[in-house]
Amino acid sequence: MGALIARLPLLLLALGLWLPAPTHAARILGIFPTPSISHQLPYQAVMKELALRGHQITVISPDPLKEPVANYTDVDISFSYEYFRQVITFADMSEVDPVTMLEMMTPGFIKLVDKQLSSEQIKDFLRYNATQGFDLVFFEWWGYEAFFGLIHAVGSPPVIGILSFGGSIVQFRSIGNPHNPAVNPDVFTGFSEKMTFWERVQNLIAMVRVTRQWEGVMFHEHEKLMRKHFGSAPPPVYDTSRNLSLLILCNHWTLEYPRALLPNVLQLTGLHVREETRPLPADLQAWLDGAEQGVVYFSLGSNVMSKDLPPEKLQAILRALARLPQRVLWKFENDELPGRPPNVRVAKWLPQQDILAHPKVRLFITQGGLQSFQEAAYHAVPLLGIPFMGDQHYNVAKMVSSAIGLRLELKDITEESLYATITELLGNSGYAERMRRFSGVYREHKARSLETALWWVEYVLRHEGAPHLRAASLRLAWYELLLLDVAAAVALAALAALLLAAFALRRLWRALRPSTAPAHHARLRKDQ
Ligand SMILES: *[C@@H]1O[C@H](CO)[C@@H](O)[C@H](O)[C@H]1NC(C)=O
Ligand SMILES: *[C@@H]1O[C@H](CO)[C@@H](O)[C@H](O)[C@H]1NC(C)=O
Ligand SMILES: *[C@@H]1O[C@H](CO)[C@@H](O)[C@H](O)[C@H]1NC(C)=O
Repeated sequence: MGALIARLPLLLLALGLWLPAPTHAARILGIFPTPSISHQLPYQAVMKELALRGHQITVISPDPLKEPVANYTDVDISFSYEYFRQVITFADMSEVDPVTMLEMMTPGFIKLVDKQLSSEQIKDFLRYNATQGFDLVFFEWWGYEAFFGLIHAVGSPPVIGILSFGGSIVQFRSIGNPHNPAVNPDVFTGFSEKMTFWERVQNLIAMVRVTRQWEGVMFHEHEKLMRKHFGSAPPPVYDTSRNLSLLILCNHWTLEYPRALLPNVLQLTGLHVREETRPLPADLQAWLDGAEQGVVYFSLGSNVMSKDLPPEKLQAILRALARLPQRVLWKFENDELPGRPPNVRVAKWLPQQDILAHPKVRLFITQGGLQSFQEAAYHAVPLLGIPFMGDQHYNVAKMVSSAIGLRLELKDITEESLYATITELLGNSGYAERMRRFSGVYREHKARSLETALWWVEYVLRHEGAPHLRAASLRLAWYELLLLDVAAAVALAALAALLLAAFALRRLWRALRPSTAPAHHARLRKDQ
């Protein structure tokens, strides 16, 4: 032992030879335009960690950090929140499928990006801060392609795409990763991986529609917007969209399904989930502790508002909750909730992670947002999903297929259906049991997420964009990728061979017939 300790410096030195060269402090720019805190939390987690490791971080975001971090500077575009609410009304879209919703939201997104690029904040950034250049750009890999002009303005460094949920067909296409409609349900559908024939048809249709909307309609609009703000210098939007060094998706196969991934596509999860819990307000703590039958926690997240539910649904929900022996804690955005039963407590904001960590919390009624799903998986709380939009249908399909939760559509909610679903989830211990096992697997992967992200980011920096990871599929047109050109060539060759055979047979037939047939006729004639 003593000898080993004596040799430790030497050992470390030898080990040092095997370690990659240290990555010097890099200048890293984050561009995260979505005005939604659930998108921003995982991005902030990665950027803060990079700042702690000595990199110089600048972030363009509607959610500047509340507590400053050294070497981390925000370009504050928080005006985006109010503007986004003006140009996009989620209420119009509650009844439509996620693909139609994407089509309906496109004009709003284009207006948002135009507003952001026209702002003094971005103009000042371009005037005073862009000239020194950046070594790396982190870009929210969603519909913000006009910002590619800004990437060009900071010197076209390597780009890492990051997205707070799992990728759709367009994200996978952009890096050349396979996305097979036979086995990979798109994030814009509400299917699990076990699709029926009809679901596979719908999945294919959804993928074609999303691709058409994105690369046809949205790219075209972003191209115009980029030219308006950045002139003719930046390369075409389509080219930069297929120039990623690394794609980081914040959904993970533990919360969706195993799939084929290229080495430069990372699935990370729970980046924003805290491992330590913080103390709850004393009265809330006492109220949770005192719930003899346990607690149902109810929150529809930060985009869907419980207060905006149709009044008849709200009344049905209240009647169902009143019949429960459990206490119910509800994130509700109004001070008043008329008809609130005594076992229900409401608050406009709640420390969700610390509540889910409380041992008395036995069920989480959620809209199925991915960040909420991650927190529930970490703290092993079974789920009742009421999906509204985006990837929520997709996430809830996973809860159901893993039997760690149940689904209830808003239109199907009545006092009876809600009461029956909650009592099934609380009365049947199978849900809690399966959720405990699910959580065990989830925690193992969550624990390594941030560390994996940092290693890969520095890898991209060390190897100047890691062009050796670029997939050959990016060079191919869609029909080449589907081998349609090869299939066509094979079909043509087969056709040619068939024609040739037919031609040869005809010649053979002709060659034989003239000698036999006329002779035969001649013989017949002679016999007459
Ligand atoms: C901030 O960055 C500078 C320059 O790289 C470095 O000297 C300093 O130690 C960093 N500060 C912290 C708190 O990491
Ligand atoms: C931009 O540059 C100005 C002037 O040097 C500086 O005060 C400011 O903090 C910089 N902003 C960012 C986001 O780096
Ligand atoms: C692609 O990225 C590299 C840096 O990794 C950059 O030099 C090049 O200009 C980019 N090309 C396009 C079309 O964006």
